[in-house]
Amino acid sequence: MRLYVNIDHVATLREARRTDEPDPVRAAVFAELGGADGITVHLREDRRHVQDRDVRLLMETARTGINLEVAAASEVVELACAWRPLQVTLVPEKREEVTTEGGLGLATSDQLAPVRAALKRLAEVGVRTSLFIDPYEDAIRASLDLGADAVELHTGEYANTRGAERLEQVARLSDAASLGQKLGMTVHAGHGLTYENVGPVAGIPEIEELNIGHSIVSRSVITGMEAAVREMAEILRRARAGR
Ligand code: PXP
Repeated sequence: MRLYVNIDHVATLREARRTDEPDPVRAAVFAELGGADGITVHLREDRRHVQDRDVRLLMETARTGINLEVAAASEVVELACAWRPLQVTLVPEKREEVTTEGGLGLATSDQLAPVRAALKRLAEVGVRTSLFIDPYEDAIRASLDLGADAVELHTGEYANTRGAERLEQVARLSDAASLGQKLGMTVHAGHGLTYENVGPVAGIPEIEELNIGHSIVSRSVITGMEAAVREMAEILRRARAGR
């Protein structure tokens, strides 16, 4: 099981002040030191968090692989083709959403055309591709027909349910993962996974890779707070002591 750490929300914090900290590129170094198998970033069309500069620097500095999430839109797909990360995951994008709300729609020819075009361009430059989809048979079969190398199963619905409903969602993810693997695709999963809910998803043997972001960034803010305050208090103490 590979853990890809999504560092988008380190960039969200930086963009809240439009300054240069915290730098997601530095965060990636520490994520790798902590054991991340790869780094995920979502270059949104509105550039609300991750910037082009972040991806360019990550491409130069990361010791692991970069999984770049983009919409199936020509501007960001062309950037991905130029940067050639280890993997590109195509995701749906809506300007007004807070986060990616569902998997790619792959039911109509209008929905399929941009995804097909993006996959073709990425295959031309030799980038591994993954499609972020809801854990349903139709979406997995459509992803196979489109020629994607992998699927990332959306775990948002799982994360939003409790009790018996959650067990149903685990079964749905498990069925989708085994179908994907049977059809010869690599299966990833992610979205909304936390320290509390990740266990049952991590236990599905066909899932090879998890993408986890918000919960890890949130945890690092909390666990890093004590040391960060101590450091600032020490600077204040020294300043008053004239050192
Ligand atoms: N996978 C995909 C395709 C995503 O778009 C996101 C969120 O950007 C994630 C995984 C990670 O979700 P979370 O931040 O909730 O862990």
